[in-house]
Amino acid sequence: MFLSTLASKPTVMIRLIFSTIAGTFFLCATFIALLTVPFFQNQGIYLNSIRLTWFQDVAVPEQWGFMHNQVTPFTLQTPDGEILHAWHILPLGLYLLYETELLDEPSGIVPDVTKSLGFKILREDPEALLVLYFHGAAGTLGSGWRPPSYRAMSATSPNKIHTIAIDYRGFGASTGRPTEEGLLLDALTLAEFALKDANIPPSRIAIFGQSLGTAVGISLAHHMATRPTNPILFSGMVLVAPFADVELLIASYRVAGMIPLLDPLARFPRLMALLNSYILSRWPSKDKLAEYLRHIEAGKRGDEAKYHIEIIHAEDDYDIPWSHSDKVFWHAVNATSHVGTSFEDLETYKLDARRDMGAGGWVVECFTQRGLVREEIVKYGLHDRIMSYPVVSRAVSRALRVEVLSGTVIAHDPDCH
Ligand SMILES: *[C@@H]1O[C@H](CO)[C@@H](O)[C@H](O)[C@H]1NC(C)=O
Repeated sequence: MFLSTLASKPTVMIRLIFSTIAGTFFLCATFIALLTVPFFQNQGIYLNSIRLTWFQDVAVPEQWGFMHNQVTPFTLQTPDGEILHAWHILPLGLYLLYETELLDEPSGIVPDVTKSLGFKILREDPEALLVLYFHGAAGTLGSGWRPPSYRAMSATSPNKIHTIAIDYRGFGASTGRPTEEGLLLDALTLAEFALKDANIPPSRIAIFGQSLGTAVGISLAHHMATRPTNPILFSGMVLVAPFADVELLIASYRVAGMIPLLDPLARFPRLMALLNSYILSRWPSKDKLAEYLRHIEAGKRGDEAKYHIEIIHAEDDYDIPWSHSDKVFWHAVNATSHVGTSFEDLETYKLDARRDMGAGGWVVECFTQRGLVREEIVKYGLHDRIMSYPVVSRAVSRALRVEVLSGTVIAHDPDCH
C-alpha cells in the first residue's frame, strides 16, 4: 500500500508532463497542417465568412449610429464583374448643413450614386477632402469599431473630410471570394471611382487602412505610383496596426495573444521556408512600401512628388504585435536613403530622437527631401478600438495636409540616418 502510493505519484507527474507535451505538439502540428490547405489559409487571413453583423442589412447604416441618410450605401462594379458594397459617409458638419434636403433623399442602396445629394456635395466642393477607407479582416462595413472609426476620420474637419469605405469581394454583401489580386482590384475600383466619377484630384485624397486594410492600402498606393501610364500619388497614407508581411505575421501569431504556436518551428528555418512556400496570399507590405518610396525618391528634383506616411500601433495590440510597425517603419526609412540603415541603428536612433508622451506613448518622425515617415506607438488602443481614437483623426488630417506640418519637427537629424 505505502509502496504503491510512492510509485504512482511520479508516474502521474510523468504522464501529465508527457500529455502536455504531446498535446502542444498535436496543436502545433494541426495548426501547421491546416495552414497548408488553401481554404483554411484564406479563412485564417481574410476571415470573411465571419460576418459579425449577422442578420443586419448593410444598406441600413442608421443601425450603426449614423443620422438618417448621413451615409449613402451604393455598389461599385469591378472590371472583373464583382459587385462591391460601399458606404459614402458624410461628415457631421456637412450633414447638418444639408440636413433638410438629405432627409428628403431616398434611403437604402441608391441605384446611381452619382445622382445622390451626398455625392454632389462631394464632387462640387472644390475643397472637399476624401478618405478611401480599407477595413481589416473579418466582418463587414458595419462591424465592430469601424462605424466609430469612420466618424473619427472627419473629427478635425467636419465640413470637409468625406469617407468612402468598401466591403472587399467575399465580405458582407459583396460578391466573389477574397484573393490578393482581387482585393487590389477592389481598391483600384474605388480609387478610379474617386478620381474619375467624383473628380477629386489625388492631392485631396488620403488612404486609410487598418490591419489587413494596411496591406490593401499600401498595395494600391504602390500600384498607382509605379504604374507606367498616368502614375498617381495620393496626399498621404494612414496605416493603423500594419503587419510587415503574411510570412512574418504567421511567425508572430500567438493564440489568445500568448501562446506562440510557430515558435518551435522557427528554430528550423528549412521547415519554416517549406511552410511559407504554401502561403498563397503574401501581402508583402514592407517591400511594397519600400519600393513605393524608392520610386518617389528617385523622381526628378523639383517634382511635386511627395509622400506622407503615418504608422500607428498600440502596445496592447495582441492580434498583431506592434513590433510589426517597427519593421514597416524601418523598411520605409531605409528606402529613403542611398546607403541604407540597419534595424538596430535605427532603433538606437529612435530611442534618442523620439518624443516621449508618458502614458500617451511615443512618436518619431523622419523628414526627407520628398516627404515624411512617422511612427506613433500609443500605450492603449488594442487592435481595433484605436482606429476610433483622436491619434487617428489627427493622422488623417495630417495626411490630408489639413494640419500645417511646420513646427512639429521632432527628429534632430532631419532624415533619420
Ligand atoms: C536598405 O537599403 C539599402 C540601400 O538602398 C539596400 O541595399 C538594402 O537592401 C535595404 N535593406 C532592406 C532590409 O531592405
